[in-house]
Amino acid sequence: MGTSPTPSDDVFVVRRSAPLSGTIRVPGAKNSVLKLMAASILAPGETVLSNVPAIADVPVMADILRGLGADVDLDLAGGVCTIVFDDEPDWHAPADAVSRIRASISCLGPLVGRVRRCRIALPGGDDIGKRGIEMHLEGLEAMGATVVQHADGVEVRAEELHGAQITLDFPSVGATENLVMAATVAEGRTIIDNAAREPEIQDLCGFLVEMGARIEGAGDPRIEVEGVPGLTAVSWRTCPDRIEAGTWAVAAALTRGDLLLENVRPGDLTMPLMKLRAAGAVVEEGADTLRVKAEDLEPVNFVTLPYPGFPTDMQPQFMVLLSQAQGTSMCTENVFESRFSFVEQFRKMGADIEIDGHHALIRGVSPLRGAVLDGLDVRAGAAGVLAGLVAEGETIVRDVHHVDRGYADVVPRLRSVGADVERVPASDVELPASDA
Ligand code: UD1
Repeated sequence: MGTSPTPSDDVFVVRRSAPLSGTIRVPGAKNSVLKLMAASILAPGETVLSNVPAIADVPVMADILRGLGADVDLDLAGGVCTIVFDDEPDWHAPADAVSRIRASISCLGPLVGRVRRCRIALPGGDDIGKRGIEMHLEGLEAMGATVVQHADGVEVRAEELHGAQITLDFPSVGATENLVMAATVAEGRTIIDNAAREPEIQDLCGFLVEMGARIEGAGDPRIEVEGVPGLTAVSWRTCPDRIEAGTWAVAAALTRGDLLLENVRPGDLTMPLMKLRAAGAVVEEGADTLRVKAEDLEPVNFVTLPYPGFPTDMQPQFMVLLSQAQGTSMCTENVFESRFSFVEQFRKMGADIEIDGHHALIRGVSPLRGAVLDGLDVRAGAAGVLAGLVAEGETIVRDVHHVDRGYADVVPRLRSVGADVERVPASDVELPASDA
């Protein structure tokens, strides 16, 4: 199981594979379930989440909730997480677990909402650039909170939490979620303009409405929340992981394979599917399935943007795909400043990619050769595995705990569709002297 929350010494060994073919079932979304877990803070009683993915960040979030006083039962094999807050939550988020995952900051809004106070360390997560939280804090200040910065985190208090008109500088996913969650139990009406519109925000808002919140406009750039005195704990099914689905869709096209993906909402992937088709893939959309196959690949240009734009979380995987297309493609990254860090590793495999600021020129077809890849974040790690499937020789992906954060059981699932990939302890692999 890819569920260990502690750094793993394992590596993935990937070899050139036959075209992938068969069926992959996509689990619930990482970027939704962690927020749903945090939102449970808002209500006393028992919250039951289903379609919970067996990824490493989930037990870390469970530990954070336990540190706040919840009783958490995680059945990762069954995909169910039960969270019970009998008493009022503690307002100190446990620093150790908080510092390990970016999504821990999602406890801020619910704690300020429910107990009007929160002390939290600065969150961890992927190293993909500066990831400030000033929009979260300024929004809460507009709602009446005061913020005190400490060396190791922030303390936010709100004797009275009231509705406010907030315009975000940028449609930040995390800030939108925190402000919506706090606003559900604030006094009066909160209007958030330039709100993020990601499907995971729509999932969170659906869950909050089921709990009794009054929210209009989820999925639109303006979200309006009318505060209510309190929320009730409920059961909810996590939405499917569109980024995982997109990663396997790229794997199908890259290996000139034919994959059927189940438990998918194709409507959440409109832009990536448009680009996949432009790159030459044949994509068939069912009600909750996707079938992707490809023969020849063409170059395409793509630009990462907040939803419904092309997701930054699929940028490294797409670069791998386009390295195998006949011609030059251009990628423009607009969301994270260091998201091209994957390119340096990918070049070790022979990829011909030129970076100019936040643009990347990808020249194909680049014959790829196996290499040792390290320092990769969750999505770049997945991209490294994909690259290994079409590279000559052996590709070693190190630091697989990053991949575990977003993808459960990668090896058995990929092997079931024909990938030549295994997971072994790092000590079992002989590395070239330059990488040892
Ligand atoms: C979430 C996702 C992540 C995805 C990202 C963009 C989770 C756990 N993670 O991250 O996988 O890549 O959305 O789709 O859901 N920013 C600030 N100040 C702020 C808030 C954000 O400068 O107060 C900047 C960030 O540094 C970044 C950009 O805004 O450059 C986007 O960040 P945001 O949308 O908040 O992403 P996350 O919620 O961190």
